[in-house]
Amino acid sequence: MLNVDKEYQGKRSARFAALIIGLAMFFVPWYVNGPHDVSSTVGFWNCVITGGLIVAVSVVALIRRTDYWPGWVFAVLNLWILLNPETLSFAEKEMSILHIIIGVAGLVVSFIWIRRVFGRLPLNRRVVKGRTFRECSSSERTLFGLVLVVLGLGYVMAIGYLYMTHTGLDGKSGVTVQDLSISYYGNRSGTRLEQMLRGPMSGMRSEEDLNKIVAWLKSGADQAGYDKTIHPIIEKKCARCHSAKSGMNLPDFTTYAGIRAVAKVDTGMSIETLVKLSHIHLFGIGLVTFVLGFVFTFTALPAWLKNIVIVAPFAAVVVDIATWFLTKWDPIFAYTVLVAGSVMGLSWAFQILVSMYQIVFLTDDKQESEPI
Ligand code: HEC
Repeated sequence: MLNVDKEYQGKRSARFAALIIGLAMFFVPWYVNGPHDVSSTVGFWNCVITGGLIVAVSVVALIRRTDYWPGWVFAVLNLWILLNPETLSFAEKEMSILHIIIGVAGLVVSFIWIRRVFGRLPLNRRVVKGRTFRECSSSERTLFGLVLVVLGLGYVMAIGYLYMTHTGLDGKSGVTVQDLSISYYGNRSGTRLEQMLRGPMSGMRSEEDLNKIVAWLKSGADQAGYDKTIHPIIEKKCARCHSAKSGMNLPDFTTYAGIRAVAKVDTGMSIETLVKLSHIHLFGIGLVTFVLGFVFTFTALPAWLKNIVIVAPFAAVVVDIATWFLTKWDPIFAYTVLVAGSVMGLSWAFQILVSMYQIVFLTDDKQESEPI
């Protein structure tokens, strides 16, 4: 009897959480529009009905504790919160954001609620004591140390690259929120060409070139103007890199067709570019974070601290990439990109430095370990 009770305890808190999520959903229209101003009737009823159903189902679940179906109904309602046309249309930004936050929280809660379907968690968990570097063989320590050196170098290069590609877009040095917002949202008052000429490419042109190019951009960037004034500048100043001949895989500006893409109003990176970058980032960063985190599990530190530092970069990469897309839509999210990027960078640095320190200094030299 006691065991059964214990088993349901975790789920009882999930049911309470579900109740709160239902109430939050129910009241969404009131935070968004105030009590008397509901702009979309469908949106209003969607929140009230979905929220009401969640409240009902969680109350039933709290009363009838052994019933299983409410967990599934709750999960399906959460999917609806995330995938309903009102949320996905983004017609009302605030409404959509609230739906996404509530829906994701709800999915996490439903996972906890119905997790026994995915495998029963043992009640009496055995405490497994992790190994530290001290208990590793010397060849393991060598391997860990070397991978830290190589990934640490990669880390430094990544910061350098980030700095070079993002800095100065706003005309100021250092990577600022403005730079990030220009990269993802675009500088909608100008073109990419002008922005690059004032930022990273400013060393390649004279003041006169800049004035001529900006005048051409302002006058509509047509072919005749390109042939007459712009083409000669490009040939003289830019073609050694920006032409098919240069072999540098940069956009070719020696033709009108080639320069047109950067002479249009800049809307930041395209969704296609973002999707491409995202999958490369998620695979790459996921693996690097795994390797660093795995080595870091051998450090002798309190478990809670280790857990935080291991989870942080995974959470940060997901938030970071999600906010690239959000920044494209509203530049305010550039702050989140900056925060998530810093969390990732700092936790990696912490993992590398602490692991390295403990590999070098915290090994027991009295006890020779066998190489394996
Ligand atoms: C020494 C080689 C070199 C020269 C010369 C050069 N660039 Fe670049 N340019 C680059 C590199 C490398 C990049 C890509 C790096 C980046 O995006 O920051 C780039 C990127 C750009 C971009 C952004 C392209 C895109 O797809 O977003 C523009 C616009 C640009 N250059 C304009 C010019 C202009 C105009 C000139 C001549 C006044 C010029 N560049 C001269 C090397 C050069």
